[in-house]
Amino acid sequence: MDEPLVWVRAVHFAATISLTGTVLFLALIAEPVFRGTHAGGEVPARVRSWLAWIEWGSLVVVVVSGAAWLILKAAQMGDVPWQAVFSEDLIPTVLWGTDFGQDWIARLVLAALLVPTLLAAQPARASYRPALVAACVLGAALVGTLAWAGHAAATTGAMGAANISSDILHLVAAAAWVGALVPLALLLVTALGRVDAPSIAIAREAVRRFSILGIVSVGTLVVTGVVNGLMIIGSLAVLAGTDYGRLLLFKIALFLAMLSLAAINRLWLTPLLQRQHNADTAAILLRRIGSNTVLEAVIGVVIVAIVGVLGTMSPTE
Ligand code: HEM
Repeated sequence: MDEPLVWVRAVHFAATISLTGTVLFLALIAEPVFRGTHAGGEVPARVRSWLAWIEWGSLVVVVVSGAAWLILKAAQMGDVPWQAVFSEDLIPTVLWGTDFGQDWIARLVLAALLVPTLLAAQPARASYRPALVAACVLGAALVGTLAWAGHAAATTGAMGAANISSDILHLVAAAAWVGALVPLALLLVTALGRVDAPSIAIAREAVRRFSILGIVSVGTLVVTGVVNGLMIIGSLAVLAGTDYGRLLLFKIALFLAMLSLAAINRLWLTPLLQRQHNADTAAILLRRIGSNTVLEAVIGVVIVAIVGVLGTMSPTE
């Protein structure tokens, strides 16, 4: 196993999922909640600044890990140490002569377009809302184009198109759920810093909206995960009989652990919260939802690390 490549892939997937998840959270959850609760003042301002840090930090990590991935991939393809890829002129060969290279160039263009778009997506600017929509589209494309860097790209013909489409949906759903968990936890922490009626209202409405996004993303992840699995491994025997299959089973077990935490939030704590009129009790419930959300995010990071490994393994071994 090429460990540096595995870790660079995992970091790149995590940063891309975090960037797209944060932009989607801002557009689909935070901003509609701030508008719906007529929230002004400190909480929206602090949440927006936290999320801006995550967006820009993730974008920097996407670009740096993307460059490292290209160098390691060129070294792997040229069968040379990574230090030799420049002297051997391997980068242009990989960039212009391979599907991986074409995909890499497309992703660099998307990342570059995100810079002016995120700069335009400032709350004080008239361009805020259209720029946020543009950032969502660019973010979804950035995470979706990772499909061409995984096993789905190896399937040809009509099956190949189906596998790639399923994988794109899988990646966008992973970003919309797992990539939005830390932003949700940050919004809850910021709102609970004040425990007044307007802040509780923001947190309560954000949790309600997030649970709808969660259900749609989880449903998409399961359906596309099964499609990916059937297309790549073909039979349940391979699932139990290969290292790849066993690692995928471990990934699914972690997913079920995340789902259990999400179910506690969705089916038990959120209904309690929606019926709760006492601000202090509501704050206790929101803290519990917040802790479960942080735990889900930690498991999500482990799943993305596993994906970093899965994509470099042969599904038949
Ligand atoms: C939190 C939940 C999940 C996350 C964050 C997640 C994330 C990912 C990511 C980032 C990829 C890489 C795509 C690529 O390399 O092209 C992937 C691939 C895959 N996922 Fe998931 N996934 C999740 C749940 C699931 C579930 C529930 C299943 C099965 C039912 C599943 C099955 C697969 C398969 C088979 C692949 C293809 C792996 C490969 O390219 O070798 N995933 N997933």
